[in-house]
Amino acid sequence: MSDHQSRLDLFIDRMVSQRACLDFAIAQTAHMTGPVFELGLGNGRTYHHMVRHIQGRPIYVFERAVASHPDSTPPEDLVILGDVRNTLPASVARFGASASLIHADLGGHNREKNDKFARFVSPLIEPLLAPGGMMVSSDRMYFDGMSELPLPQGAVEGRCFVYQR
Ligand SMILES: C[S@@+](CC[C@H](N)C(=O)[O-])C[C@H]1O[C@@H](n2cnc3c(N)ncnc32)[C@H](O)[C@@H]1O
Repeated sequence: MSDHQSRLDLFIDRMVSQRACLDFAIAQTAHMTGPVFELGLGNGRTYHHMVRHIQGRPIYVFERAVASHPDSTPPEDLVILGDVRNTLPASVARFGASASLIHADLGGHNREKNDKFARFVSPLIEPLLAPGGMMVSSDRMYFDGMSELPLPQGAVEGRCFVYQR
């Protein structure tokens, strides 16, 4: 965090970056038919954005407890309820390497904890992505076989990360 930035500045940077990176990754994967995964529903703002802008691909939501805005609550059959540390490995048997896009916003306020968690879940996420599939994350991820892409216009360095398999 740079010294001159307030928490409000950081929050705005994160929101602007999420939208820019999601829009970029949605467009880049629009030709793909594999499912989209939203990891961490929260209030459902990014889920709502994805529903608005993604056509023809099911959007599955991984969340331990659904508590979203009523307008942003996914249908039950598209919710994969539980801790992602368990539901991601279980999903490999169900989906294989088929996801066209995975978005993760699982972190809280503690940067160290977020980084530790990102290190843990990176190898659980990687086998779910189809070749050419993309991952957008609020935290830096630690992948073996994926490339980190330059951020699209409008995104702020360090506030969002984009990877491609
Ligand atoms: C920051 S919020 C997501 C906000 C969302 N992107 C939005 O736009 O409203 C993070 C969410 O991830 C969920 N989450 C965090 N760790 C998780 C875990 N290990 N397994 C499943 N869900 C988790 C939390 O319950 C929370 O709802």
